[in-house]
Amino acid sequence: MTRLGINIDHIATLRNARNEGHPNIIESAKKIMSYGAHSITIHLREDRRHIKDKDLSLLVKSKIPINLEMASNRKMLDIALRRKPKFVCLVPEKRKEITTEGGLNIKKNKKIIETIIKKLNQNNIRTSLFINPNMNDIKLSKLLGSKCVELHTGKISILIKKNKNFKHELAKIKKCTNYAKSLNLEVHAGHGIDYKTAKYLSSIKGIVEFNIGHFIIGESINDGLFKVIHKFKKIINKK
Ligand code: PXP
Repeated sequence: MTRLGINIDHIATLRNARNEGHPNIIESAKKIMSYGAHSITIHLREDRRHIKDKDLSLLVKSKIPINLEMASNRKMLDIALRRKPKFVCLVPEKRKEITTEGGLNIKKNKKIIETIIKKLNQNNIRTSLFINPNMNDIKLSKLLGSKCVELHTGKISILIKKNKNFKHELAKIKKCTNYAKSLNLEVHAGHGIDYKTAKYLSSIKGIVEFNIGHFIIGESINDGLFKVIHKFKKIINKK
């Protein structure tokens, strides 16, 4: 079965807007898992704008399979080794970006990425590199010892949303997937995925895991409003 990982950063953003602990993201993560997700993804950013250190600690303690997205630096490596999430995905990080805008620059950060991957592999933490779909980065990912690659699907998702021709990008992702598979790398996909993008990407057989955040959380608000509003109407009309 193709696995689905859910990114809950946006739930943390909502919680932080009031700082009173609601919605409780540990509870959300448990619910998400009970609804059939395979893992929970969190990005512990340098500025801690959404997920906090305590979230990571509590989530790991609650035995939920956590996929920790993190920047490639020694501080984050220490945190990962201390907390021991099940999976780590190295991602590029810029302070001012709204979200992860592209894949890692592996060539520029080869040494530190290799060091981090080695340490994580030694500690039985599954390693993944978030890369743009290109053959060279796949080759480098393998050389640096990563077990998986997560292909950045931001470009194809924008093309699909804007009703533009996405066939070339889809073919590129397929070619990259096949190449990665031939190197024995597990292939994941993430960023900007909605129902439509998921449908097209699912036609690529080698993608074994999707990591989706923004659309699922946004859509869940719309899908959940009916239930919550009716619950409130019941409460305020019980005289
Ligand atoms: N995968 C990775 C590595 C990410 O950094 C992100 C967030 O940018 C996602 C998946 C989820 O992307 P989205 O929130 O657009 O679904």
